[in-house]
Amino acid sequence: MDRILVTSAIPYINGIKHLGNLVGSQLPADLYARYNRARGREVLFLCATDEHGTPAELAAARAGKPVAEYCAEMWQVQKDLSDGFGLSFDQFGRSSSPQNHALTQYFAGRLFEADLIEERTETQVYSPADGRFLPDRYIEGTCPNCGYDRARGDQCENCTKQLDPTDLIDARSAISGSTDLEPRETKHLYLMQSRMRDGLRTWIDGKTDWPLLTTSIARKWLDDGEGLRDRGITRDLDWGVPVKRGTEDWPGMEGKVFYVWFDAPVEYIAAAHEWADERGLAEADWHRWWRTDAGADDVRYVQFMGKDNVPFHTLSFPVTIMGTNSVGAEQWKLVDYIKSFNYLNYDGGQFSTSQGRGVFMDQALEVLPADYWRWWLLRNAPETSDAEFTWESFQTASNKDLADVLGNLVSRVTKFCRSKFGEEVPAGGQYGPQEEALIADLAARVATYTAHMEAIEIRKAASELRAIWVVGNEYLQSTAPWAAFKEDTGRAAAIIRLSLNLIRLYGILSQPFIPNAARTMLSSLHTDADWPDDVAAALTRLPAGHAFEVPENLFTKITDEQRADWATRFSGTRT
Ligand code: 2FM
Ligand code: ZN
Repeated sequence: MDRILVTSAIPYINGIKHLGNLVGSQLPADLYARYNRARGREVLFLCATDEHGTPAELAAARAGKPVAEYCAEMWQVQKDLSDGFGLSFDQFGRSSSPQNHALTQYFAGRLFEADLIEERTETQVYSPADGRFLPDRYIEGTCPNCGYDRARGDQCENCTKQLDPTDLIDARSAISGSTDLEPRETKHLYLMQSRMRDGLRTWIDGKTDWPLLTTSIARKWLDDGEGLRDRGITRDLDWGVPVKRGTEDWPGMEGKVFYVWFDAPVEYIAAAHEWADERGLAEADWHRWWRTDAGADDVRYVQFMGKDNVPFHTLSFPVTIMGTNSVGAEQWKLVDYIKSFNYLNYDGGQFSTSQGRGVFMDQALEVLPADYWRWWLLRNAPETSDAEFTWESFQTASNKDLADVLGNLVSRVTKFCRSKFGEEVPAGGQYGPQEEALIADLAARVATYTAHMEAIEIRKAASELRAIWVVGNEYLQSTAPWAAFKEDTGRAAAIIRLSLNLIRLYGILSQPFIPNAARTMLSSLHTDADWPDDVAAALTRLPAGHAFEVPENLFTKITDEQRADWATRFSGTRT
């Protein structure tokens, strides 16, 4: 596959995301997108803000702003923070875009044609105190599945069960806190997911290479009759995508909008449309990523998300795509691989947006540049189990891996070369058995690293990358060019020539994890970034006489004082 489509779960618009959110989707998606670009593949990497639904309305009300204005402002805040973390989206879209309105309405029309949408008059929760129906998150209560007492009307964040507001025990209004809630009749659309059960099961059964975390959650909901029950996809709200069938009005649905979880995944597709429109490209230019009847056959589509998002991406969104594909000629792409993540905890508890607990993206960048965070988060990605952020672990990883191993190698080699040979790759001397052993070792390690990156085994890839840095340091330590220089300048020149080439190799391999340091390494060497398919050849790419500059120090160490300060500063709750 030479074309890779990557999407990250789209973050809710309300508020700044914490590091647990970041490592659960956007950051690993960026790692994978950057890796594939470095391999010379064509990549389209899409993300957006998830702007509809009650979280946005509630947050706008709290901020005292009209919801559209609030969303526009928060989109810019989130966009600037993604740029700060080096998230290399080709498009950071908005689920409130006109493109998403049109596509969401189009899919609803197709699903209706496919007999997968039913109209139902039903009873919903009405709050006389608030003068309105209370959908999803406007209702809180106790989860009927696990007993968690702050479950929301759409999903329990404790056990991940998808809920309807009427399922909650001891329900109360999230607006007024009123428990005077009464059932009233209203008409809504239902997505008949249960009719697709067999198709979904066959599809999931074929995904034998998917992470167990993904397939086990999907199977759980498929096997448990509750999990795949038909779901209401409209709401009595003002803010959202108005309910239509394609471009036509939907009789009886005036004044209603689609449920946020119906339009949010459609934004993955709409973001490509936005991307094309903003660049003056044609319809065909984004269709070739998304429609297999329009050239997307050779695209591999990979999604990244936290485990709580898996049911929507393995059941509900595939129903939208499969159902639409079952009528009409347009064939939309289903996901090829879903990488999902467990949770990251913070210093003995949970990261929590509602409680302001942990480190948030804006705060993190005030403390240290992105590469420090990227390295710790990716190296400790919660892949097979939950992981925990502690300031000790962060200090150790930064100081040892980044400063002592990588930064120190770059600094020692370039500074020694400048002082003894000038700022160009030195000539003379021969490679001997130590160089041959190093090259053979690196060739094997780069192959392992590449295999882990292909398989999106992030922790394993990080630890192999670190091992690759370490062998370079050990080589430098054992060949000791500063001592060799006194006896045999040619030998010292050969060691430094290889070591400068090592820095180039490390710059290329490290780009997906620490893009800023990697850019500094490569630009100070005035070199390209071709992927090292042949490691021995890659280590000759900077020939004798090639000019370079000594870069600024790549990393500074975190002191014990700083660590203690930050631990105190981030121990409370953010207001
Ligand atoms: O959990 C979340 O943050 C959701 N906003 C993710 C939506 S992903 C998709 F459906 F677009
Ligand atoms: Zn629960």
